[in-house]
Amino acid sequence: MKIGMIGGGGVGQTLGAALIALGHQVVIGIRTPSAEELAKARPQGATLTDWSARTGGAVADFATAARGAEVVFNVTPGQHSLAALRAVGADALAGKVLVDVANPLDFSAGMPPFLDSAFSGATSLGEQIQAEFPAAKVVKAFNTVAAAVMVTPSLIPGAHELFLSGNDAGAKAAVQGLARDLGWTGFVDLGDIVGARAQEAVLPVWVRLWMTGGSPLVTLKVVRA
Ligand SMILES: NC(=O)c1ccc[n+]([C@@H]2O[C@H](COP(=O)([O-])OP(=O)(O)OC[C@H]3O[C@@H](n4cnc5c(N)ncnc54)[C@H](OP(=O)(O)O)[C@@H]3O)[C@@H](O)[C@H]2O)c1
Repeated sequence: MKIGMIGGGGVGQTLGAALIALGHQVVIGIRTPSAEELAKARPQGATLTDWSARTGGAVADFATAARGAEVVFNVTPGQHSLAALRAVGADALAGKVLVDVANPLDFSAGMPPFLDSAFSGATSLGEQIQAEFPAAKVVKAFNTVAAAVMVTPSLIPGAHELFLSGNDAGAKAAVQGLARDLGWTGFVDLGDIVGARAQEAVLPVWVRLWMTGGSPLVTLKVVRA
């Protein structure tokens, strides 16, 4: 499958490398894919030059990464995701599964971050992306676990499930298929894209669990009677 990864940070590199290892073709999109930008040290990942050399994946601008893709991942900081996706362009996203991994976290007051009020309450980033790009099939997924867990769920022992939401059943099935290939065996479907409110609201809890437990290898588990 051809996959466009909008964002080349820790999540884009980790998901991209794992999907390439499964046989997919991945193009990471960044704002300015110059030689200088590709060689730049990135806080949570390798340089993109090193990432390409290691994985065989390509790096391009945002629009190019999405244009040839069947599935597009949004892995940009949530407060900037709408701007990034506008740079991708609605045409390049039309008809495609758009996996929204981003969290609209505001780090302006340091740790812990809080949910940006522009994307919380009676809205969410996932819903705003779906509203602005109605021809894309937005699926909120992977946003409630650390990047390492996205691609190796067994890092957290025991049964735990991936949350997802979205309006299009076929798109959710496609995302579940990719997740199964990454090792996920169980899913909690939170319904239509309004479910993104719940998935994004997990983040303040998740960040505190990380801070108090000293490890990002933590997740929430649903137990029903
Ligand atoms: N880190 C995790 O374990 C984790 C887990 C769950 C969810 N998430 C979510 O996944 C997303 C990606 O996380 P990350 O740590 O990989 O991200 P990141 O390193 O902060 O950002 C990655 C990409 O975002 C682009 N970007 C940054 N500012 C931008 C702006 N103003 N406009 C357009 N693009 C911009 C960058 O483009 P350039 O390369 O052009 O600078 C970069 O390629 C975030 O929303 C995060 O909350 C992260």
